[in-house]
Amino acid sequence: MTILSPTSLHDSHVVVFGGSSGIGLATAIAAKAKGANITIVGRTLEKLQSAADSIGGAQTAMADLASRQSIEAVFDSISRVDHLVITGGGVHAGKLADSDPGRLLTEVNEHIAGSLYAVKAAISRIPPTGSIVLMGGQLSDRPSGNGTSVMALACRGIEALARSLALEFKPIRVNVISPGFVDTPLYDAFGKEGRAALLAQAADVLPVGRIGRPDEIADAIIFLLTNGYMNCEVLHIDGGGRFV
Ligand SMILES: NC(=O)c1ccc[n+]([C@@H]2O[C@H](COP(=O)([O-])OP(=O)(O)OC[C@H]3O[C@@H](n4cnc5c(N)ncnc54)[C@H](OP(=O)(O)O)[C@@H]3O)[C@@H](O)[C@H]2O)c1
Repeated sequence: MTILSPTSLHDSHVVVFGGSSGIGLATAIAAKAKGANITIVGRTLEKLQSAADSIGGAQTAMADLASRQSIEAVFDSISRVDHLVITGGGVHAGKLADSDPGRLLTEVNEHIAGSLYAVKAAISRIPPTGSIVLMGGQLSDRPSGNGTSVMALACRGIEALARSLALEFKPIRVNVISPGFVDTPLYDAFGKEGRAALLAQAADVLPVGRIGRPDEIADAIIFLLTNGYMNCEVLHIDGGGRFV
């Protein structure tokens, strides 16, 4: 078996949950360009197929981060995972006063429980030089008061989880990527005008004067995968959004 240096993705196998869109797709494209073999995971076959084409070739697998069984099934046919990246999951927002707490907790199910199940299923296949990147977010440090309280809980929980897992599974490295606003299909749920208004408003407030691009977040994720001394870290990439 070839032992890879953590600094090289060449011939490695990178599994990206959420790799069919947005940040995950950009990460898969960037890892592929560095010579990695890619598996992308999501819930929708057509999105996976079209993403595999834009990546220039990738294995695909269907799973829902809210379903432990479907996550475990992904790894049945995978013998080695050099890097596990979890960028999947939706947005389950709403003010507590107006929302069913059970629906809001879907956020925790997908992000925290989903990450736990995926790590548990993958870990025996990850070599000592491998790593894991979990998805956090700016809400961990910058609450909005705008119906994102359970999302903030999930973002902060992921950080605590990653640090503990890094100690449990050492020397496998575990890091968190923590983006601010990024221009992805995630915001399509707000409708064309709602999406444009939300993102324009966010850009207005940000010190950099614009929202982020998926490839910029992917760059930061590739850094976490390939720098062998990065561990237990939360890498913020938010245009300064935590401070405004
Ligand atoms: N965009 C931002 O501004 C931003 C900021 C901070 C954090 N984040 C987080 O970053 C992650 C990726 O966001 P994105 O902006 O790249 O969104 P996106 O473009 O909508 O991509 C989401 C990806 O996750 C998959 N997915 C969604 N729900 C899933 C589930 N339950 N199980 C498995 N896969 C699922 C989607 O495919 P299917 O729908 O086909 O499953 C898709 O591949 C999300 O967790 C989001 O909360 C985003």
